[in-house]
Amino acid sequence: MSAPGIEIKDLTLRFGSREIFSRLNVEIRGGEWVSLLGASGCGKTSLLRIIAGLVAPTAGTVTASDGRPLADRLAWMGQRDLLYPWLTVRENVALGARLRGEKVDGEKVMGLLAKVGLADYADARPDALSGGMRQRAALARTLYEDRDLVLMDEPFSALDAITRTRVQTLAAELLAERTVLLVTHDPLEACRLSHRLLVLAPPSGIDDTHALTGKPPRRPEDPTLLASQARLLHQLTGANP
Ligand SMILES: Nc1ncnc2c1ncn2[C@@H]1O[C@H](COP(=O)(O)OP(=O)(O)O)[C@@H](O)[C@H]1O
Ligand SMILES: [Mg+2]
Repeated sequence: MSAPGIEIKDLTLRFGSREIFSRLNVEIRGGEWVSLLGASGCGKTSLLRIIAGLVAPTAGTVTASDGRPLADRLAWMGQRDLLYPWLTVRENVALGARLRGEKVDGEKVMGLLAKVGLADYADARPDALSGGMRQRAALARTLYEDRDLVLMDEPFSALDAITRTRVQTLAAELLAERTVLLVTHDPLEACRLSHRLLVLAPPSGIDDTHALTGKPPRRPEDPTLLASQARLLHQLTGANP
């Protein structure tokens, strides 16, 4: 599988007279995991929604690097897991296929549930699961969709630190080779999981000067990880933590 990149050109978004961002230019390479950071309200979710085709930009374009349409190759994972409470875990994972009227591949569903450690919960309802288990079920659903491009909007932010670290590692392993754009508020998460960081800071635009070395997912004790996290915190707080 060779996942395409995402090319964002001169992207401007206004809501009424309010400019959220203006003339953003970003290139995300195929197979790259990029984290997007920035203050609340700076337009991160809106940028993801534009890429997903859910919001029309005021100006500018978002295209796939291979020139084919993006929409049917995208998966979305949000802060809330959006599992349907009346469906079992197994049914939630295969929901996309069912909605499209496709035959559900039961073996694939069970294989993915085993990978995320939920094989024993296939027939449970979501409200019988912990927050971390629900997010793992949502991850299995994202993987069932088998999309080349994955947009994630703070998917791990509601989890406790230990569960979050485990689910992050799992996501990094299972989504390797895909093109991933992750919105996060957590500098450690961004530095652990990404090839590259983007900081959205209107009106100047996107800062992509923060360098990361080595390959994600980085181990928690990796000294370069701690140094990157410190630099990123400095940048996000205006060198004034
Ligand atoms: N549909 C909308 N109509 C008007 N304003 C919106 C809409 N969606 C988002 N906004 C505003 O745009 C700004 C950016 O929102 P958002 O993209 O959610 O920011 P972030 O995800 O970075 O916190 C916020 O001030 C928000 O209130
Ligand atoms: Mg947001």
